[in-house]
Amino acid sequence: MSPVTPSSIDILFSEGDISRRVNTLAQEIVSDEPGDLLIVIILKGSFVFAADLIRALERAGASAQVDFVTLSSYGAGRTSSGTVTLTHDLVEDVKGRSILIVDDVLESGRTLAFACQTMCERGADSVKTCLLLDKPANRKVAIEADYVGFSIGDEFVVGYGLDYAHRYRGLPFIGKLPVD
Ligand code: IMP
Ligand code: MG
Repeated sequence: MSPVTPSSIDILFSEGDISRRVNTLAQEIVSDEPGDLLIVIILKGSFVFAADLIRALERAGASAQVDFVTLSSYGAGRTSSGTVTLTHDLVEDVKGRSILIVDDVLESGRTLAFACQTMCERGADSVKTCLLLDKPANRKVAIEADYVGFSIGDEFVVGYGLDYAHRYRGLPFIGKLPVD
């Protein structure tokens, strides 16, 4: 598909929708008394969401350490390859820590299952998960997130960190790409 202009992308969630939801998510996380958190941000798709979420968490009274891991299952297309690869690892030791995994989209569940399993194998004390978007229609692994921003149908979305072939991550809203 050749690139489309941002103005031809249908807005699903506006900047305002996202900002309100992120603040509510932070309050939900804080009200569950997360303790001394290490937030594990799964790159690349969740970096915009995570940047807003960690600041909302601070405003809601939760200070956390932050680290990054890069997991990849998509390549440059719209469908997952099915195999999750760790291409950049954490710096922090997760042993004995309360982990909050932050990711962009829960679709097949393979990426999140891989991340949770990796944290458990490394001896994390507890592992919770916070996802910007849930796409339950295509689940292949039985896994649900503890905190979800928005649930959507079987549609491919971009913006607010989400890409199609490495484009559109900078859009301030989440929108639907026109079908090929
Ligand atoms: P899963 O392993 O199938 O759950 O795939 C989740 C990963 O696929 C997410 O972390 C995203 O990187 C990517 N993904 C799934 N759906 C979309 C989408 O609609 N737009 C952009 N990326 C997506
Ligand atoms: Mg991702």
